[in-house]
Amino acid sequence: MNIGILGGGQLARMMAQAGQSLGLSFMLICPNKNACAASFGTHLCASYDDEHAQKRLSDWADVVTYEFENVPLSTLESLQQQVLLHPSSSVLAVARDRLIEKRRFHSLGISTAKFAPVDSLEDLTRALKDIGLPAILKTRTQGYDGKGQALLRDEHDIAAAWERLGQSPCIVESMVNFNRELSIIAARDQRGAMVYYPISENHHRDGILRLSVSRLNDPLQAEANAAIKKVMDDFNYVGVMALELFQVNDQLFANEFAPRVHNTGHLTIEAAETSQFENHLKAICGMPLGATTSARPAAMVNLISRLPEEEQIRSVPGATPHFYGKAERPGRKVGHITLTGDDCTVEEFDQRLVTLLQIAGENELAGQKFLNIATQTN
Ligand SMILES: Nc1ncnc2c1ncn2[C@@H]1O[C@H](COP(=O)(O)OP(=O)(O)OP(=O)(O)O)[C@@H](O)[C@H]1O
Ligand SMILES: [Mg+2]
Repeated sequence: MNIGILGGGQLARMMAQAGQSLGLSFMLICPNKNACAASFGTHLCASYDDEHAQKRLSDWADVVTYEFENVPLSTLESLQQQVLLHPSSSVLAVARDRLIEKRRFHSLGISTAKFAPVDSLEDLTRALKDIGLPAILKTRTQGYDGKGQALLRDEHDIAAAWERLGQSPCIVESMVNFNRELSIIAARDQRGAMVYYPISENHHRDGILRLSVSRLNDPLQAEANAAIKKVMDDFNYVGVMALELFQVNDQLFANEFAPRVHNTGHLTIEAAETSQFENHLKAICGMPLGATTSARPAAMVNLISRLPEEEQIRSVPGATPHFYGKAERPGRKVGHITLTGDDCTVEEFDQRLVTLLQIAGENELAGQKFLNIATQTN
């Protein structure tokens, strides 16, 4: 089958890599001439709203998908007239706008942080009376990796935050004092059957994901599964979705969902029987989903800004480097490392993870005491 992808970054690249063993071919639209997925298919170097490129893609592809939320909605709407599109444009219409997204969570009975729409400085001041401080101001659309956000610690931050972000419609959210940040990834096929991956515990720094740890048999797995099922069923969704969650004591609050494969699911390449990339492709192609069974401790460390020596990574038992073929640049995701540990004790697993965090330059995380990881997985 022929698969069209909007976007040519690392998610498209890993999807196309997974598709090779399924006998799938790929064509992608990406305006970046150095798109790191380009060598895995036919690259149409064009803007997403280029009608000629859209026509070529829709004529060639059996099904089209997308790898991020910032493709224009109009592009998806017009593509959907011409070719099968999964997830559908109506999913993106919700996912791309934090206000619509949070309202959807509420209508499905899923809790979130307190929030309010903000279109003026007066709106913001008024909303904060109810929401309180600290809070976070976010643009409704176009955010990723913590971009388009401003932390409001006290009253003095309000005017400057509005000055910085206020040209676009915004949302203000209460700051959740979470115990853990989690994500759940699931796949749903064309008949509505679903499979779930073990939930992942995630650690961010400067708004960017740094570390994900797979939590096998977590007590909150069932509740996370139920939440993502509500969202996916509501859309009659086809493909892989990720739902980002905050845990406060034993309660879950939804942050946002991603209608695509997700950074916190990269470890499924090594850790699960079927990776998130393979299951996304299976779902959109109408194939039965693969098992998500994962019995091994696993973690993933993102490589941000720079790539360490591959040899240094490989010297850690159970570590697999993934380099995306992207140029190094501050704040850019240029690769990741997966660590699996079926041949080691919990203490060894934790020690190996600390070593990898140090190799990745995440010394702050490497020094934290939370790394009794494998102990908590069973
Ligand atoms: N209301 C909140 N309370 C506490 N922390 C928050 C809140 N909103 C966001 N954060 C922190 O900032 C991170 C990035 O925020 P969010 O997921 O909303 O933005 P994003 O730009 O879409 O990020 P990403 O692309 O990594 O998913 C979150 O993963 C979380 O660590
Ligand atoms: Mg997020």
